[in-house]
Amino acid sequence: MTLALPTSLAQSDKLGPLPSQPAVYQVYLRSFRDADGDGVGDLAGLRDGLDAIAALGCDAVWLNPCYLSPQRDHGYDIADYRQIDPSYGTLGDFDAVLDRAHGLGLRVLMDMVANHCSADHAWFQAALDAGPGSEERARFIFRDGRGEHGELPPNNWESVFGGPAWTRVSEPDGQPGQWYLHSFDSSQPDFDWRNPDVAAEFLDVLRFWFDRGVDGFRIDVAHGTVKALGLPDHDGRGHNSVMWDQPEVHEIYRSWRALGDSYPGGKYFVGEVWLPSQDRLADYLRPDELHQAFDFGLLIQPWDAGRMRAAIEEGLRVAGSAPAWALSNHDVHRAATRYGQTQLLDAPPPTDMISAARRTGPADMALGVRRAKAAAGLLLALPGSAFLYQGEELGLPEVFDLPDEARQDPIWFRSDGAQLGRDGCRVPLPWAADGANLGFSPDGGAPAWLPQPAWLARFARDDQERRPDSPLAVYRDLIHRRRPLFGTAPSLHWLDSPDGLLAFTRGMGVCAVNFTDRPQPVPSSWPVGVRVVTTEPAPEPTVLPPNSTSWFQLAGSDPTGRDDQRHNL
Ligand code: NOJ
Repeated sequence: MTLALPTSLAQSDKLGPLPSQPAVYQVYLRSFRDADGDGVGDLAGLRDGLDAIAALGCDAVWLNPCYLSPQRDHGYDIADYRQIDPSYGTLGDFDAVLDRAHGLGLRVLMDMVANHCSADHAWFQAALDAGPGSEERARFIFRDGRGEHGELPPNNWESVFGGPAWTRVSEPDGQPGQWYLHSFDSSQPDFDWRNPDVAAEFLDVLRFWFDRGVDGFRIDVAHGTVKALGLPDHDGRGHNSVMWDQPEVHEIYRSWRALGDSYPGGKYFVGEVWLPSQDRLADYLRPDELHQAFDFGLLIQPWDAGRMRAAIEEGLRVAGSAPAWALSNHDVHRAATRYGQTQLLDAPPPTDMISAARRTGPADMALGVRRAKAAAGLLLALPGSAFLYQGEELGLPEVFDLPDEARQDPIWFRSDGAQLGRDGCRVPLPWAADGANLGFSPDGGAPAWLPQPAWLARFARDDQERRPDSPLAVYRDLIHRRRPLFGTAPSLHWLDSPDGLLAFTRGMGVCAVNFTDRPQPVPSSWPVGVRVVTTEPAPEPTVLPPNSTSWFQLAGSDPTGRDDQRHNL
């Protein structure tokens, strides 16, 4: 079966300044590399580490927020959208990253957080000072409370991080006063996007960074910026349809796209959009809106051929050749751990990221790393963009054993420790098996901002550089070979496969995944030529190792006509 593309998505090959179907490396800056020795990653560290990203074969980096911020949600609480946080460096350091990245052929995407800012933002401080009814308050969502004395929140909305989505302020006269809306932490007040001041300000902020040379933006909670008129109560059943995905959000992205398109070559936008039904995603991908939106369908599936296939078909159905696939990010448990845990195959297909991708429980790490490499082999063969979260290429596991006092995620605090939150996927990268903070920091510096467990040394990058069978070697091989093999073919053709295998042809290649714990023969009906990549050693040419992915040349497309195999090892 070949998946045909909706014609409305034919724009998908044009991603502004990015090559079509790019591989994008996600940099969680505070954990990437620390150049100044304060235990926190920074822009100078990123500049030094860009060579490693380029050597992987990536086309772009996406930088999590690095603006001025009190760091209550590690940068997703922005106090000034035109400044770099001093813990990360200066605007000059940012320009140096841009220059170096562009010199290496890497485009740079920033992260735009438009739903909310930090309570430290000058606008919010002015709103607190100015009091009810002021123009300053009208940039945020302040309301009087319910109840006799306004002591109850204005509606029943819940914060994504737990607890009510409203916090009551003290008015300038010291009396308890209005409430403000925060979809996330109370330190992150939501803007009122129905106020034209807000729209104008964000266009100006985008222009500020585009003029510096930034190539595009990932948009945080892109479906959340506008709330339903009148802020009605949520009916309490599942998705809050009055808080998210209002029709007016599309005007915002149309105006952003128009601005981006006014630059030579254009600028790129990818949205983080969570919806109960993927059908509504297509609206965000109209030709005058976002270029792409993340597809988390693969990320939330267990290790199962049928589930993965269904997620791929759904992603291609909704976004044509342009899904922005990801297996991990800074909000979920790392893939190697997820795939090493018991797989919930009998449970109904997961619908949300938290229940599916933030499960605790023991994991078989050797198995998890094998499957994570194989999943990467699957993802990197698909039509669309591939977003890779830093450390995935090292096969890093989730760090569950962080001491309570080291935890920093607001989710941990707002749930009174019931949810571990996201610190475990944000532990600073192990660049070296020895050295300060496992090579993350220079010698003589402060401890890393989140403690690195001793076992993390086993995943050190310098060691993996020397081992031809390391996860790093596999990822590098996959990323470098994906274009020559699959090109930018917009569709795939499934091959009939025995249970537990998944295979398709695309462009000049065949991708085959063995989801089982046993070696499986390559079915004789498959049109495979030379094996180009395998994520596990494959001594026999016609066998797929357990929990692995192989890429073959499509039979007849092998110019050498050889029938041997090329290991990545
Ligand atoms: C989504 C981001 O990915 C997450 O890290 C952040 O905490 C929330 N949005 C709030 O900005």
